[in-house]
Amino acid sequence: MKKRKRVGILGGTVAIFVSTFVFLEWVFPYAAQLIVGYSVPLPMPRTLVIWSMVLVTITLAVYVASNTKATEEFFAPLRAAVRREGPRWQSIVLRVAAVSVPPIIGLWVFFSALPRTAPPATTRQQHPGTSGPSAAPYVGLSNPFRGLTADDRDAALSAGRALYFRDCAPCHGAKHDGEGPAARAQSLRPVSFRDPGTIATLVEDAVFWRVNEGAAGLPPVSTPWDSAMPAWHDDLTADEMWQIILSEYDDADVEPRVRGMQ
Ligand code: HEC
Repeated sequence: MKKRKRVGILGGTVAIFVSTFVFLEWVFPYAAQLIVGYSVPLPMPRTLVIWSMVLVTITLAVYVASNTKATEEFFAPLRAAVRREGPRWQSIVLRVAAVSVPPIIGLWVFFSALPRTAPPATTRQQHPGTSGPSAAPYVGLSNPFRGLTADDRDAALSAGRALYFRDCAPCHGAKHDGEGPAARAQSLRPVSFRDPGTIATLVEDAVFWRVNEGAAGLPPVSTPWDSAMPAWHDDLTADEMWQIILSEYDDADVEPRVRGMQ
């Protein structure tokens, strides 16, 4: 009976310490999620956990030190274990703890200080606009096939359409929806030109830049996620690209942005 009581104060102190930590670290996030009705667990900030544990330790220390009897009862099992006076399991537990706790703390500090490779903090900008240095020379170019007579414009449109079907449709799709037969094989989905968030938000010189330079010309924020968008400057002339762009907007039922207009 007496022995059980001694283990009681030491065991109780350890139990309060461990259960407080378990509650703050593993129970609290789910309780908070339930209460707030959020979609993911809400972990407690690390500093709050640390400070709560410091306060719990101080409280327990004050309790143990509050009278000689409590102090005596707290240390009795430890002393008995060191002197091998108590039950055998006590001295075994003490020895295992004495040998294993320092290396565990050492390893914990080592691994938390180890530099880690982590994915970049910024997500890739799939639709980078004209933020790259390679885009600068293109700013201000205009599509020579706009503003022609209806007949010339139709001729340019059909030329662009034919080139689009040959070169672009395999990825961007015959319906300009980004669902071409080769699209599934790409780790980055070829953009849908019908999507109001793609070419409809760009001025034509930005589109010309994207077609001419392809993925290789993208700024660092847009790499290295393996965009398969080819650079077309070696395979198409500038006029061909402008014709494709003309037909691209026309067939996707969207309008390019125009500088200086709202
Ligand atoms: C091998 C597949 C493939 C082919 C062929 C291809 N593209 Fe792309 N294209 C992509 C992918 C993937 C993206 C999206 C990733 C990115 O932005 O680089 C893209 C993006 C684009 C964009 C950027 C749109 C935006 O809103 O940012 C334009 C413009 C474009 N393509 C035009 C064309 C044109 C014109 C052709 C034909 C001359 C063509 N593409 C051929 C795969 C392809």
